[in-house]
Amino acid sequence: MKGFDSVFQGRSVLACKDFTPAELSYMINFGLHLKDLKKNRIPHEYLKGLNIALLFEKTSTRTRSSFVVASHDLGAHPEYMDSTGTQFGKKESVEDTAKVLGSMFDGIEFRGFKQSTAEGLAKFSGVPVWNGLTDEWHPTQMLADFMTMKEKFGHLKGLTLAFVGDGRNNMANSLIVAGSMLGVNVHIVAPDELHTSQDVVDIAKDFAKVSGAKPMVTSNVAEGVKGANVIYTDVWVSMGESNWEERVKLLTPYRVTMDMMEMTGTPGDELIFMHCLPAFHDTNTTYGQEIHEKYGLTEMEVTDEVFRSKYAWQFIEAENRMHSIKAMMAVTLGNLYIPAGAVESALEK
Ligand code: CP
Ligand code: NVA
Repeated sequence: MKGFDSVFQGRSVLACKDFTPAELSYMINFGLHLKDLKKNRIPHEYLKGLNIALLFEKTSTRTRSSFVVASHDLGAHPEYMDSTGTQFGKKESVEDTAKVLGSMFDGIEFRGFKQSTAEGLAKFSGVPVWNGLTDEWHPTQMLADFMTMKEKFGHLKGLTLAFVGDGRNNMANSLIVAGSMLGVNVHIVAPDELHTSQDVVDIAKDFAKVSGAKPMVTSNVAEGVKGANVIYTDVWVSMGESNWEERVKLLTPYRVTMDMMEMTGTPGDELIFMHCLPAFHDTNTTYGQEIHEKYGLTEMEVTDEVFRSKYAWQFIEAENRMHSIKAMMAVTLGNLYIPAGAVESALEK
């Protein structure tokens, strides 16, 4: 059957910046719609009979689970592969792997180190490639995060999100760019040594000129969190890094505490805490115990008090990974009928 022409059909999702703000917004709204369908047990098998490869160089709980459950809900078959169980990387190049996977699978999720690997898979596989996180970007996390904010606040434009932590990591990069596309003021609050790179800030600023968002990078906590609707943080040391000592020293003053939540000056019902997870909010993990023994810390990027407080939205956010990843897979691979003008009008005025 001939598919409907859609702006999304057959496209890869490697970084948010590759989409228009309206397209990004459409995927976020579609995630909310699919959440509603799932809660009401309405079937939505847009990818019936298709096969999906899940290729992981780095570990994952949420992203892996989301792609698996979303594939099943869409009627597709997911296959998980990691770098120890495949030839990928050690004996076979990105190009050759892409050609093989693309000949058998209808879509490929990739999580790993280099953005260029995701790009190579997309270039040579001939099927949509979805970036499940690289050192540079985490686009599927953005779909879930802005979907979560829309679920809570009913709109995005004009909201302020303060990301407090490592301003150079994939999350900071992704939030400042996606937020600027959608009209959300993203403040990166980080010590001078960990400020977001100028390249990324420039991409954000270009989008902000159109959306009216006011992105900011600052080392001043009081300035950065003022007026925030969302206080967001992430691990101090990302996958692939090991510089704990440096990060503990630089980022301890940037831990999210109840005092920081109050510093926003935002009324309680207009303020939430978010975290892409996993989080170090206690010592109930191997790393948590090691850091406690070495540096005497019982909590890292967020206190247990905030993590369990009335502000906590991180588990709704985690669930939304699945709904939003499902939306992204469906629009890029499902031959969906998208009425004329629906994408353009998805963006809030
Ligand atoms: N937030 C996120 O990507 O979680 P996982 O590492 O568990 O996939
Ligand atoms: N910055 C973190 C995000 C994890 C979802 C990492 O890359 O490890």
